[in-house]
Amino acid sequence: MTSKIRTYNPYRSCFETMSSNVAAELLRYGKSKPDCISLAQGEGSLPTPAFICDEVQKSLADGKTFYSFGAGLPELRQEIATYHAKSYGHNIPLNRISVTSSGTNAVHLALMSILDEGDEVVAVTPIWKNLIGITELAGGRIIDVPMEQTDGKWHLDLEKFFGKVNQNTKAMMIVSPNNPTGWVMPAEDIKTVLEFARARDIWIIADEVYGRTMHDISKAPSFLDYAEDDDLLYVVNSFSKTWAMTGWRLGWLIGPRDSEDKIRDVILYENMGPPTFTQHAGIVALRHGEEFLQSQKELWKNNQKIVVDALSKFPRVSMVKSPAAFYAFFKVEGETDSFALARRMIDEVGVSLAPGGAFGKGFNDYLRLCFAAKPEVLIEALRRLEPILK
Ligand SMILES: Cc1ncc(COP(=O)(O)O)c(C=O)c1O
Repeated sequence: MTSKIRTYNPYRSCFETMSSNVAAELLRYGKSKPDCISLAQGEGSLPTPAFICDEVQKSLADGKTFYSFGAGLPELRQEIATYHAKSYGHNIPLNRISVTSSGTNAVHLALMSILDEGDEVVAVTPIWKNLIGITELAGGRIIDVPMEQTDGKWHLDLEKFFGKVNQNTKAMMIVSPNNPTGWVMPAEDIKTVLEFARARDIWIIADEVYGRTMHDISKAPSFLDYAEDDDLLYVVNSFSKTWAMTGWRLGWLIGPRDSEDKIRDVILYENMGPPTFTQHAGIVALRHGEEFLQSQKELWKNNQKIVVDALSKFPRVSMVKSPAAFYAFFKVEGETDSFALARRMIDEVGVSLAPGGAFGKGFNDYLRLCFAAKPEVLIEALRRLEPILK
């Protein structure tokens, strides 16, 4: 069959201007090599705990196979409110909570409810690449504000951040704890950002997917600790990382009181929400998942030590030891093309890492390694990396 040559573009024009996702191609490339160790994706090696999986089987056996409600099962929305009360001391009314088909989907729903074509979203970078893509797909444009390393820590200059806001700015996007750096926005800065945005009627999109992954304490400061019910604030969360449920595609979104019907409409016209039986499993994850989370955190902390010890032996490598999440985001002196370097690692030593350049401009001498792996796999990957990093 011959393929038709088109003289016009039948697709949305945003695909012509969207930034390319070379990192996703590299991820696929690494996965296509049978002996390659992949530490490129943001997920662990542990399967979802049995008590959560069992609940899905029970739900299916009980015939929980019908349409759910637009904003999610009322019982799950209630459980999310209870979880926020127990874990954070938040008091969130149910009409502010929507169940979503993942954290990624929650960001998409939030942006679809606020962005008009050409609106700008000022984002703290480095940032998870998909958030840039989601913004572009929704018709917006990311204006990035790179963090800097000072005194062995990642630091966001709030003046610089606020300086990028202009009349085209619709939202500010903050991922804290951050993927890839593990940086956590201090409570004082959260308050300042809230006040700044409130005074200008600008939205805040706070991605708090890693909020419970702090290595030494129970939770990171949240925008919900200080926000009022009507603030133009969307807080994104997910079951993926906290309870090892990346394949489930389940998350939630908390918005201001008047956002409920907007988000419900976007969900309604997109996919009518996540499967009913997985939502039932979400309830038990929230209710009984604390012990599992603690065991994951122990593993991550141990693994971080393995990675920091190994990488600190290479004079070309420098990194900040992060207080949260499960990534080592490290700089390799003398390298300027993280995409080429990541590809070389796959080809020459069989290890796949994420290129720093994927996380925003100015990070092309960095790589991201996900250490939520089995310790023996991590040790082998670090051994393999030696000839390239030394
Ligand atoms: C900052 C951030 N937000 C959201 C997600 C995606 O979460 P989900 O699996 O629920 O889509 C990720 C995944 O890596 C992430 O790093």
